[in-house]
Amino acid sequence: MATIDEVETNDATQASAESFDVEAVRADFPALELEVYDKPLVYLDNAATTQKPASVLAAEDLWYRESCANVHRGVHFLSQKATDAYEEARAKVQHFINAEFEDEIVFVRGTTDAINLVASSYGRKEIGSGDEILISHMEHHSNIVPWQLLCEEKGAVLKVAPINDRGEIIIEELEALLTAKTRMVAVGYVSNALGTINPVKQIVDLAHERGVAVLVDGAQAMPHLKVDVRDLGCDFFAFSGHKMFAPTGIGGLYGRRELLESMPPYQGGGEMILTVSFERSDYADPPARFEAGTPNIAGAVALGAAVDYLSNLGMDAIGNYESGVLDYATELVEQIPGVRIIGTAAKKASVLSFVLEGVHAHDVGTILDREGIAVRAGHHCAQPVMKRYDVPATTRASFALYNTRSEAERLAAAITRVREVFG
Ligand code: ALA
Repeated sequence: MATIDEVETNDATQASAESFDVEAVRADFPALELEVYDKPLVYLDNAATTQKPASVLAAEDLWYRESCANVHRGVHFLSQKATDAYEEARAKVQHFINAEFEDEIVFVRGTTDAINLVASSYGRKEIGSGDEILISHMEHHSNIVPWQLLCEEKGAVLKVAPINDRGEIIIEELEALLTAKTRMVAVGYVSNALGTINPVKQIVDLAHERGVAVLVDGAQAMPHLKVDVRDLGCDFFAFSGHKMFAPTGIGGLYGRRELLESMPPYQGGGEMILTVSFERSDYADPPARFEAGTPNIAGAVALGAAVDYLSNLGMDAIGNYESGVLDYATELVEQIPGVRIIGTAAKKASVLSFVLEGVHAHDVGTILDREGIAVRAGHHCAQPVMKRYDVPATTRASFALYNTRSEAERLAAAITRVREVFG
């Protein structure tokens, strides 16, 4: 019986770390062979979700074939095997983001779930009437609404740090909004709508000087940047597996050990307890305290395989390669008459968001689709940032490690055709 570690991956990660061989990477992703409307698929909707490499698909499949049992419960062989695979995935995530301890990683459904966990548990305990929570103007709805719900419940106040026209947080203004009442700063590492890479380490330092906790929404950072939670110094870091080549429905919350230990459960059930009686229950230590019920074991194992895939390619090599493609695509697209790029920060990853004068973003997206190019059109779950730029929606191309310069050329050619169709 093969173990998950023995699965033949035969993938691009076996190649030399010296060069980034995008064609070898592409060969690892079965979905990239698809054709849509008789044209080769150009998949540029990676900020929404990424395609999965064969090694991730194989890890999930193999777990169901040969290790399927519930974790932390059974005394039998298969249950132990499942538990080992699940906990091994936790250790892989720990090392990937350089957390100090394995038990600082809580498996959750994704970034939204992770932020809701912190708001419901840490937030309910630490944030009270008149306290302030500080976010930025470019946050995804998942880093706005959980805090609004908490504010409504507790009588706390949500403050918003403004951004400049390039789509960068105005740090002096953020600093001025840190008051004696601020209890939490929650900020995205990379904006899903603009692509801005925020200076989160600097923001953490400013907050910590004042004793304020920081949560980083790392959903859009994990597939593109080397994440080091100890270097960032953040208290919480939330991410989704599906945006980093793992399946949907699995993600992680990193929390500093002493914070997680101090936090009450936010969901009750099996797995998260030490003892239960009708009079009272005692809770397990983290991370089990926050993993009530049967977790997404297969998803966690596949997330471990995605971490292996990215680690073997090297996040620096991935980031360098992707920057070249994004810069090239930006140069091509910004020359097209009528295009206005939304989000022109000095430091960006993955995202090329734009409006085309006189054409609705959905029409642009629909015509690109007929050319085989998958992009997202809409408000990108970031309505306040659309309002900031006074646009109802943008068309967003978002790149990942398997996209190429020739795909950037196909995108630019297709936008040019849209321009011609609409005159
Ligand atoms: N947050 C995802 C996006 O930006 C869904 O498309």
